[in-house]
Amino acid sequence: MRVTFDLDGEERTVETPPDRSLRELLREDCDALSVKAGCDGGRCGACTVLLGGDAVKACLVMAAKVDGRSVTTVEGVADGSFGREVQDAFEAHSALQCGYCTPGFVLSALAYLDDDPDADREAIRSALAGNVCRCTGYEKILDAVEAVAERRVGEAE
Ligand code: FES
Ligand code: FES
Repeated sequence: MRVTFDLDGEERTVETPPDRSLRELLREDCDALSVKAGCDGGRCGACTVLLGGDAVKACLVMAAKVDGRSVTTVEGVADGSFGREVQDAFEAHSALQCGYCTPGFVLSALAYLDDDPDADREAIRSALAGNVCRCTGYEKILDAVEAVAERRVGEAE
């Protein structure tokens, strides 16, 4: 099966087995190693990417579904000003330890902040509920995303 899609701003055409998940397509066929392999069952969020701007769990999306579409990994937002701002906030708030979950959290946070920059902590907690972290206890992650949301709300006023 041939899949052509935009990966982090670059068009890619990949020959891949028809039963590939997007998580496998990205890691195994495209060397997008920031897309982590966790549960492979939709429970941990380690594989989260943006598909057309929406945060999705790549292990639950069939590779064929991305033909003609746009996929963004955390590598694709490393230099963008907003993506950088969110990653800087994670560092400033010590919101990561081993970092395994961090790409997924950053992308879920970006999807939330792009969509509706509400600085309400419970709304942020709910938006990130699909992402699991074994290290941080979550509060520092929420602090980081809340700080960015507060800045964005402040700028919009
Ligand atoms: S690896 Fe996809 S949700 Fe866990
Ligand atoms: S920082 Fe280790 S799993 Fe989240």
